[in-house]
Amino acid sequence: MTRTDLPLPEPANLIGNVWQPAVSGASMDVISPIDGLPFARIADSGPEDVDAAVAAARAAFEGGDWSRLSAAERGRLLLRLARRIEDEAEALARLESRDNGKPIRQARADMAVTARYFEYYGGAADKLHGEIIPFLKDCNVELHREPHGVTGHIIPWNYPAQMFGRSVAPALATGNAAVLKPAEEACLTALRIGALAVEAGFPPGALNIVTGRGETAGAALSRHPGIDFISFTGSPEVGVLIQTEAARNFIGCTLELGGKSPQIVFDDADLEAALPVLVTAVIQNGGQTCSAGSRALVQRGVFDAVVAGLKARFEAIEASDSGEEAVLGPLISARQKARVEGYIANAGAPLIARGGIRAGTPDGGFYVAPAVFGPCDPGSRIAQEEVFGPVLCVIPFEDEAEAIAIANGTEYGLVASVWTRDGARQQRVAKAMRCGQVFVNGYGAGGGVELPFGGRRKSGHGREKGFAALHDFTTLKTIVTTHG
Ligand code: NAI
Ligand code: MG
Repeated sequence: MTRTDLPLPEPANLIGNVWQPAVSGASMDVISPIDGLPFARIADSGPEDVDAAVAAARAAFEGGDWSRLSAAERGRLLLRLARRIEDEAEALARLESRDNGKPIRQARADMAVTARYFEYYGGAADKLHGEIIPFLKDCNVELHREPHGVTGHIIPWNYPAQMFGRSVAPALATGNAAVLKPAEEACLTALRIGALAVEAGFPPGALNIVTGRGETAGAALSRHPGIDFISFTGSPEVGVLIQTEAARNFIGCTLELGGKSPQIVFDDADLEAALPVLVTAVIQNGGQTCSAGSRALVQRGVFDAVVAGLKARFEAIEASDSGEEAVLGPLISARQKARVEGYIANAGAPLIARGGIRAGTPDGGFYVAPAVFGPCDPGSRIAQEEVFGPVLCVIPFEDEAEAIAIANGTEYGLVASVWTRDGARQQRVAKAMRCGQVFVNGYGAGGGVELPFGGRRKSGHGREKGFAALHDFTTLKTIVTTHG
């Protein structure tokens, strides 16, 4: 079991750069998925804590020190935070691994990406600028990009530090003041990064963090009349609630709600290259990744070869505690484990292979042996619903048209990949995918801070990462001056 070198936090929220317990005094356990045991406590916040955080953000945005900074100064603060995250990356990774259960190597990669978000958006802060539009002869027309004001951020437990960077860094870079509600299942690195932001010199109220349950603290933030925009990553069910509250407050929102992302393998694909990626894309982070490649669509001519390759690879994978050798850690909670085991028990398709659970892993941990099923009916539950676990379904297809129809045949649309050596087919299929990102002869779950990312339909809307996020966190103002 990994150990953390960081002191565990007191149960408190970060409001106006001061650590404050919940007004009610309530706190709740933090459980490590590695052994199922509580090891820390966080504030179990209510609406009054959210009120205080939104008020602190409002004060920072309207007249506070934060509002007086230039774009370059904001960028410098973000860069300083990036350096601090890098300096503390190993300890942060150990904390993340214990809190979330993810393999330590995954947690290390996450910290590099988290720092990179603050570096990328720190560098971008003073490079986002307006435009001039040619209009009537006696007019000057300027387009200004302005921050929304106070932004709400509700993030999930699967990548607590990365999600913090992805959601909050572009909001701060553009001058918003942020209130973050991380997930109750795993939020200790988010709290630590909050402390590092204070050390880096962020003025009071620029960044506020309120911990607690979704139905209380999360709901209070999403319906708060004092927020001007909300960014949410999590389940479609809660996404509907967030969007409903945003509608009541007449504000915009970004929703990232997961997916059922396909990898399409044609007969002419380089199977040596594709097979390991088919496996890692659904095993990474225990399959608890919004962009997990959870469907393998395989053309008839290579179906048997791909199934044989997947069988050998899945049989060799063992879930284990999250030490140096681990590739598959425990799932986040007993609830998530039960949910995934339920999908496995009711897959309704032949089991191709099941991996194992390493002997000696702690008894109380939330371990699930990985599973691959096929051939799966493309319309079946296992092929349509997001499992959010180490479960791959393999679906055969005859030709390109059928592959496209199956790939686009779910309610989701987040990521897709196409494996083929045929250049024209690469272009046709990539253009036909109804989703936000397509990879040709590769797959990128996570990473790629520069690359705009987001979904369609049940996967959500709006774009994060890249410059696209800077656009989402700003609102456009047109100023027309008549100069005669
Ligand atoms: P969830 O959507 O309930 O939780 C995500 C975040 O929303 C957490 O911070 C939570 O506290 C907050 N939240 C929950 N209820 C809320 C409410 N009524 N108002 C405001 N905020 C609220 O997701 P959960 O229950 O942890 O996972 C269920 C399933 O959702 C997973 O099995 C997976 O399929 C999907 N999911 C997708 C994620 C993604 O990356 N797109 C991340 C997490 C879950
Ligand atoms: Mg939930």
